[in-house]
Amino acid sequence: MSAPRKIQATCALELWDREALPEPDRELLNAAHEAVTRAYAPYSGFRVGAALRLENGVIITGTNQENAAYPSGMCAERVALFHAGSLYPGMAVEALAVASDGQAQWESFSPCGGCRQVIHESQQRQSAPIRLILQCRDQPVTVADGIDQYLPFSFKADGLGSSR
Ligand code: THU
Repeated sequence: MSAPRKIQATCALELWDREALPEPDRELLNAAHEAVTRAYAPYSGFRVGAALRLENGVIITGTNQENAAYPSGMCAERVALFHAGSLYPGMAVEALAVASDGQAQWESFSPCGGCRQVIHESQQRQSAPIRLILQCRDQPVTVADGIDQYLPFSFKADGLGSSR
């Protein structure tokens, strides 16, 4: 039997100090931190704010919205993306910042799998990367130049093939 072939994905994230970020990134991150106070997270106590910038310059925010029926809740990232999509259908998202005042370490403050998939589809639709800027409290800021860094080997619509 022949040995399996290896296919490898590379993942590269940058770590920044908040003060050193380029001004547009810092502005967006500030909006995400401001949004944190509007989160509805009575069950986890983990408040998250998201802010995205559209190509027309408009900034849209979202916060996590929990529910007593736990799976019915929604992450901040998706609230912001779906809100943007419903207000400005087809408008490209340039960047998305996510912030929290929760107790996570910067290494584990990272979009969940479901949000990665949704961010990925937004990227696919607009054929341009979405810059991601993440910070939990005052820890280092994680910056990625697109969702591919977080979701290699992703499922794409063309994977549906003729079943679409
Ligand atoms: N949460 C987000 O809103 N975004 C993330 O990136 C991580 C997790 C929310 C979901 C839930 O309301 C709470 O944080 C705890 O998981």
